Amino acid sequence: MSEKKAAGGLQGVVAGQSAISTVGVGGIGLNYRGYDINDLAYKCSFEEVTYLLLKGHLPNQQQLNELKTLIWQKRQIPCKLKQILETLPKESHPMDIMRTVASIAGILEPETKPGQEYEISIRLISLFGPALLYWHHYSNSGIKINENTGKDSIAENFLKLYHLKSEIDPLVVKTFDVSLILYAEHDFAASTFAARVTVSTLSDFYSGITTAIGTLRGPLHGGANEAAMQYLEPLRSIPQAGQFLNSRYQSKQLIMGFGHRVYKKEDPRSPIIKDFSLQLSKTANGDPTLLAVSQHIEKRMIEEKKIYPNLDFYSASAYKQCGVPTPMFTAIFVISRMTGWGGHIIEQRSNNKIDETCFRLHWACQEIICTNRNEKQCQFMIMYYQNKYNNINVQVGQLNCQSIRVFHISLSEKDDRSC
Ligand code: COA
Repeated sequence: MSEKKAAGGLQGVVAGQSAISTVGVGGIGLNYRGYDINDLAYKCSFEEVTYLLLKGHLPNQQQLNELKTLIWQKRQIPCKLKQILETLPKESHPMDIMRTVASIAGILEPETKPGQEYEISIRLISLFGPALLYWHHYSNSGIKINENTGKDSIAENFLKLYHLKSEIDPLVVKTFDVSLILYAEHDFAASTFAARVTVSTLSDFYSGITTAIGTLRGPLHGGANEAAMQYLEPLRSIPQAGQFLNSRYQSKQLIMGFGHRVYKKEDPRSPIIKDFSLQLSKTANGDPTLLAVSQHIEKRMIEEKKIYPNLDFYSASAYKQCGVPTPMFTAIFVISRMTGWGGHIIEQRSNNKIDETCFRLHWACQEIICTNRNEKQCQFMIMYYQNKYNNINVQVGQLNCQSIRVFHISLSEKDDRSC
């Protein structure tokens, strides 16, 4: 009788508790602060999601305007950083540039007192793209770009700076924006866990982020979108895609962009980014062959291996059709996940222990935790909150005598927030 393989790496290790997102309860679904990923992707902007993850609730119009102004101001690249970027070789990997930008920012603008996490998060979210593209254009063609494109969104600013154009197709901007939303947060993913470990030693915010960037880089984590594009690029027909799959099966190599530790069926983010990638493939600058090949690989992987695409698979074709070069894919992930890392560092530092004696409501986190009560009392608490907050739909995620976790709150008609 064959023995079950021992879990490798951190598989099965309970890393901690977090109220920032809920990933794959029962193997499905993803929520940020209680909001379903589909609602967020189709109805919100990345800036709104940034606010949600860092502050715990969606912004109202005024808060959103303030955030947009802050992002615009924090886009400015310090002169000393520009000088350093100009010395970095053009052969550098964009992930090395991102890690270096976080490090240099930590020297030039260090964290000096408690409570700066939100400001530093916004600084890095705003700075990463312009700094990467400053290095890119300078090292490749000697051009010193002006990072300030007005109050554009992070997505539009990135695309304008990369393409050096003043107008970008709105579908390309929306696709890029949606990808930033989808990559923003994923509970205790390896890079997030790494950031939390670093700051738990009372190290500074920037050290947490450099740790996270280094961890994200690996092809089993963030690097999978880049690795997926590398094998997709040369496949220009269905027979070629078939041959590629057969040879990978034979050599028992992984197909990057497939499989997930938590989602045993569909990654809920995959159909969203696939939708945008398909839309792009039907435009003048789209690549229908790339989509046909991708869909063929997806179909066979599901039929023959029962392994489903994760977010990285269709992100590869989406980014490609946005005109972004493959080595930048994981660096874009950094810009996005900076929001989740920031939220987790704030949460880690807040030392949020669950109250031992009674229930409490984390309204900001849309989570109810009820402890040390029997099941009947817990049921009562759920009914109480359902009545009290009648503009939300509450689903109970987990119930036993000691804890109740509400994991899903959907947007309703009565919700007057800006989303
Ligand atoms: N391609 C081919 N086979 C795969 C596969 C993939 N992408 N993902 C899993 N498998 C296979 C494994 O080889 C293993 O086969 P075995 O039982 O014969 O040894 C089986 O499926 C289970 O694999 P396991 O590593 O236990 O799956 P997991 O769910 O723990 O691992 C990942 C999840 C993400 C590490 C894994 O799917 C993977 O490496 N994917 C590719 C990298 C990737 O896309 N990463 C981004 C994740 S969001």
